[in-house]
Amino acid sequence: MHIKKILLTNFRNYKNQEIVFDEKVNIIYGNNAQGKTNIIEAIFLSAMGKSFRARRDKDLICFGENSAKIQVEYKTIDREGKIEVIIDDKKTFFINGVKQNKISDIIGKINVVIFTPDDIDIIKEGPDCRRRFLDMMISSLKPNYIHILNNYNKTLEQRNSYLRQIKYENKPKSMLEIWDKQLSEWGEKVYNYREKYVEKLLEKIKVIHKTITKSGNLEEDISIKYISNCKDKNKFLENLEKAKDIDISRGYSSLGIHRDDLIIYINGKPVKVFGSQGQQRTSVLSLKLAELNIVKEEIGESPILLLDDFMSELDSNRRESFLNKIVGNQVIITCTDNIEGTNSYFVENGNCIRK
Ligand SMILES: Nc1ncnc2c1ncn2[C@@H]1O[C@H](COP(=O)(O)OP(=O)(O)OP(=O)(O)O)[C@@H](O)[C@H]1O
Ligand SMILES: [Mg+2]
Repeated sequence: MHIKKILLTNFRNYKNQEIVFDEKVNIIYGNNAQGKTNIIEAIFLSAMGKSFRARRDKDLICFGENSAKIQVEYKTIDREGKIEVIIDDKKTFFINGVKQNKISDIIGKINVVIFTPDDIDIIKEGPDCRRRFLDMMISSLKPNYIHILNNYNKTLEQRNSYLRQIKYENKPKSMLEIWDKQLSEWGEKVYNYREKYVEKLLEKIKVIHKTITKSGNLEEDISIKYISNCKDKNKFLENLEKAKDIDISRGYSSLGIHRDDLIIYINGKPVKVFGSQGQQRTSVLSLKLAELNIVKEEIGESPILLLDDFMSELDSNRRESFLNKIVGNQVIITCTDNIEGTNSYFVENGNCIRK
């Protein structure tokens, strides 16, 4: 699949910008703070319904304006279409001119896999970064997952609120069972999705990581393990019951899929703790390439790759090994220096000019 054209109106530092993309490699280059990542952000948003970096949608609107618009024309194996996102005090999505009611209705119209220097957070930061990585990937492939995850989170909020009502307003403890039951049901559903996709990741990443790290007789063995306390609904219910008094005194739920983690091991040791800087970077590259393979397999065509400032992170061997793995995809790359011999765009102060 590929994006044919994008139109930005009052989006970040773009007033009115049209960009026509090549089906293969597109290089967006320019100095810092000129608007390169803003283009990647607009594409990501039209694919996933939200930004990968803005906390508030309001920040996406050009300073001094009241609304922003992104229009994307795309082509897949079997259809062409247009996605339109309008951001004002809310976000509204249109597919081929028809207004969509839910975010999940636009996800998956185009599939993107993004590589950014911040991906290293998946290894280095807390479990929430790893859960976000998993949840994003699954949502892009199974929009129904968003609905399940939202229901879990809503139930969790209600349970937490009731825990505080028990603590401060002497509400009966017995009523907690209602939330426990719902939490365990939604939790099990989320668990099943995550478990299935971690299995798929494991299968792909083993092969990918070996080829990336192979040097003479040496190669690294990577493994990933999904840690959850919602594996079994009944066991989870039992544990919720056991944790009841602690949860009441803390005023929040200490168990559930919102505490899950994904541990990544190199040669049997957690890479977060024991990995060198290089091993951590390579692990995250393998993880993202595994994601790319899964997306490709599930949708039956090559997704669009967004590489934000990513190539600068790789040494020349890894860059070559990486480029060999992504033939066939439309690739949109941002960097500070132009790469000769490719279709390129120069960005300066919110203007993007094809070179
Ligand atoms: N809502 C907004 N309205 C107008 N300009 C904005 C808005 N949000 C961000 N900007 C501007 O966009 C620019 C940053 O854009 P972007 O992140 O795309 O830069 P970049 O070219 O990727 O830079 P780098 O090479 O440093 O990553 C900054 O100049 C910032 O002030
Ligand atoms: Mg940038």
